[in-house]
Amino acid sequence: MSEPVFVAFATQKGGAGKSTLTALVASYLHYVQNVEVVAVDCDSTQHTLDVYRKHDLLVTEENPTLRRTMHRFYSEFKKEPYEILLTSPSDAVAVAERYCNERVFLGEEEPKVVFFDITGTMNVPEIVKLIASMDYIFVPITTETGDMASSIAFASNVYNGMVATCDTCIKEIHLVWNKVNTREKSNICNVIDKYISTLGISSLNTVLVKSTRFEKDGKEMGGNGIFRSTMLPPDKKFLPGSNLEELVSEIRSIIKV
Ligand SMILES: Nc1ncnc2c1ncn2[C@@H]1O[C@H](COP(=O)(O)OP(=O)(O)O)[C@@H](O)[C@H]1O
Ligand SMILES: [Mg+2]
Repeated sequence: MSEPVFVAFATQKGGAGKSTLTALVASYLHYVQNVEVVAVDCDSTQHTLDVYRKHDLLVTEENPTLRRTMHRFYSEFKKEPYEILLTSPSDAVAVAERYCNERVFLGEEEPKVVFFDITGTMNVPEIVKLIASMDYIFVPITTETGDMASSIAFASNVYNGMVATCDTCIKEIHLVWNKVNTREKSNICNVIDKYISTLGISSLNTVLVKSTRFEKDGKEMGGNGIFRSTMLPPDKKFLPGSNLEELVSEIRSIIKV
């Protein structure tokens, strides 16, 4: 069996969408496409994935509509939610490897993809080491000027300091446009894409729009539906126009899973 692929949505700036995209892509793979995954929350400044999971458990308890959805889903799914392993950047790889080995030992399905939620502070040695241990890095970038500069600087530091010098496991690094006002790349995206191509970096074709559906996580009571959950697939009504299916499909073709 092939080794699990290590994937991170990473960049140094908060708010670009690392944790959101990690949860969305992990959940889509696991709950919609039946691909075994595990997530490692090693963003010690926030532990957002762990917060998401606690939130998801709580809203399911409190919201009868979600409780019914959950019950219906798991009676057919017949598998557990994927694990979210909470750890520090320095222990993250060992924790992930131990988890994968234990699954094999117990005769359970080994994860095909391990997602790491990392804050990309490049001046911290253990984080640099962790980033260098990834197989694939996706750098969320938004059209906000500060975010944009920060994501480009991050991607180019990783590319020049690691990928180009072969001092890493990283096979590919790509930017991914998030919170864009249009469903296709806007003018500024194309200008930046052209610039980053001179640095040897490309962005994914898929663009994620800025949309309130990203906040649909069950905190509104009633049957409003859910888009981002670590325990359920996204509600089908939120998929058209979200480009989530396209994102997952493009990522799968890159990471070969
Ligand atoms: N495409 C999007 N449209 C609207 N809001 C988004 C989108 N992507 C992320 N967000 C929101 O932006 C905020 C920051 O996202 P988050 O994933 O926590 O960033 P990071 O992990 O990079 O700090 C969250 O409130 C999230 O819901
Ligand atoms: Mg985060």
